[in-house]
Amino acid sequence: MEIIERVKEMQRRAIDAKRRGLNIGLVPTMGYLHEGHLSLIRIARKRCDLLVVSIFVNPAQFGAGEDLDAYPRDLHRDEELCNAEGVDIIFYPEKVDMYPGGFTTGVLVKQLSGLLCGRSRPEHFEGVTTVVAKLFNIVMSDIAVFGKKDYQQQVIIRRMTADLNFPIEIIPGETIRETDGLALSSRNKYLTPPERESAPALRKALIFAKTRIESGKATDSKKLTAEMAGMIESDGTFEIDYIEIFDPKNLTPIDNPSGKKSVIALAARIGKTRLIDNIEVGF
Ligand code: PAJ
Repeated sequence: MEIIERVKEMQRRAIDAKRRGLNIGLVPTMGYLHEGHLSLIRIARKRCDLLVVSIFVNPAQFGAGEDLDAYPRDLHRDEELCNAEGVDIIFYPEKVDMYPGGFTTGVLVKQLSGLLCGRSRPEHFEGVTTVVAKLFNIVMSDIAVFGKKDYQQQVIIRRMTADLNFPIEIIPGETIRETDGLALSSRNKYLTPPERESAPALRKALIFAKTRIESGKATDSKKLTAEMAGMIESDGTFEIDYIEIFDPKNLTPIDNPSGKKSVIALAARIGKTRLIDNIEVGF
């Protein structure tokens, strides 16, 4: 396994691999890898010849006052994990190489980027799509794997890929969880022991709502999400940012989810940590 730090070098390697007829796979990450990331790496490993994992804590997707400086990093451990999964290249660029002086371009997927998480993080998705577009141009992969944990992110990246004609197949990976249901996240590290104990309430509320919809007992999204909020906020540790039921194709809200394919997604703060989760319904 190699670590490539320079954008130009990564691009040269990608062009060379393409000339040799190799299929390139990309798993974009911000590092501090966990089983969720590894599950995406395993999906990609099976579907490409040259597997590139990018590790870049992208400043453009963090708002003022968010956790950019505190974001956990451990390259040494990430290297070992990637090596064990048969990754060929870790692309580990520096900020100045990704965003040199004079950088002014942004890739914005309009409308979708302002919904759900975009309401409380107005610049976040433009930061994500800009860096992912750059990674697509640098790594030139044939496939890229993204987790359903970040459902909105995946929908937005799919839209961008189609709209900008990137010749890349976007492959989804299921959410990997702790045994008590909490979705794995690099940010779980911020939770205090009592917060960690309360955290599975999010998953419980999502399962409750899914069961109600699929058994035909819930036909009103507003009522159902209010009930979920009550469950989550009952022990006083969570502050809900949003709970929404929407069409997985375009994030359009669904008023009556009965008999339809939908996704319920939520974001909530617990202490200093913002957690997100979601569940597919009617699939
Ligand atoms: P990061 O949070 O490091 O996540 C990298 C990838 O891992 C994303 O596709 C995310 O959806 C996936 N992932 C995270 N937790 C997961 C879990 N529990 N199960 C399955 N997959 C999981 O998402 C980002 O980085 C960035 O926004 C990025 C796309 C790299 C752009 O900077």
